[in-house]
Amino acid sequence: MKLGLNIDHIATLRNARGGFEPDIVEAAKIALQEDIFALTMHLREDRRHIKDDDLYSIKKLGAKINLEMAATSEIQHIALDLIPYSVCLVPEKRLEITTEGGLDVAGQKEYLKEFIKPLREKGIIVSMFIDADEEQIRACEYIKADYIELHTGSFANAFDKGNCEEEFQKLKSGAKLAQSLGLKVNAGHGLNYKNVYLMHKIDNLCELNIGHSIISRSIFVGLKNAIQEMLELIK
Ligand code: PXP
Repeated sequence: MKLGLNIDHIATLRNARGGFEPDIVEAAKIALQEDIFALTMHLREDRRHIKDDDLYSIKKLGAKINLEMAATSEIQHIALDLIPYSVCLVPEKRLEITTEGGLDVAGQKEYLKEFIKPLREKGIIVSMFIDADEEQIRACEYIKADYIELHTGSFANAFDKGNCEEEFQKLKSGAKLAQSLGLKVNAGHGLNYKNVYLMHKIDNLCELNIGHSIISRSIFVGLKNAIQEMLELIK
């Protein structure tokens, strides 16, 4: 399994003061010295954390960018100009604190099928952030997505309550179904140093996208150590 480091929270902290600290490009440089697969950034419509310039500055470092984005023409336009390594389509609500729930791919199949075509034509890998639900997984195959990213938020919440078996089994069977349909499978949201070991029990997961826990830990041990500790658990 590979690690996609989500650095949105570094931009959140920077934006709290409206200045330049902490410098997200410096953070990216530190991260890129470690064995991470990609830097994940969510360009939200309201630009509450990552700004357009952050994406271009970090791309200049030679980083593989996994751009999380809503399926809107404004952000699609930016993705087609930036050409990140991959995009992950996510649902977006203005008032949410973080991405709540997976994208409803089944409910907008035809729209999304057309939406991702120009992205794929530019060689950008397309992933869909969905719940481990059969209808959604089959819809991802229908629209010809390359990957799905299973939303692990419910699993993480259940883990904290000490009873994650049901949510874990949903992830496991969702991954299996997706792989049988030819989709590659990533996972993310709410994964941390305590629950991530269970991801090893899901066959053939490709990437884990993790942000909050690593950036939180970096306050105490530094970014380099926080990344290395997570990499140890993932490998
Ligand atoms: N994957 C996706 C699609 C997300 O939206 C997020 C949150 O931005 C993450 C992974 C990372 O979640 P967390 O910050 O809880 O690790």
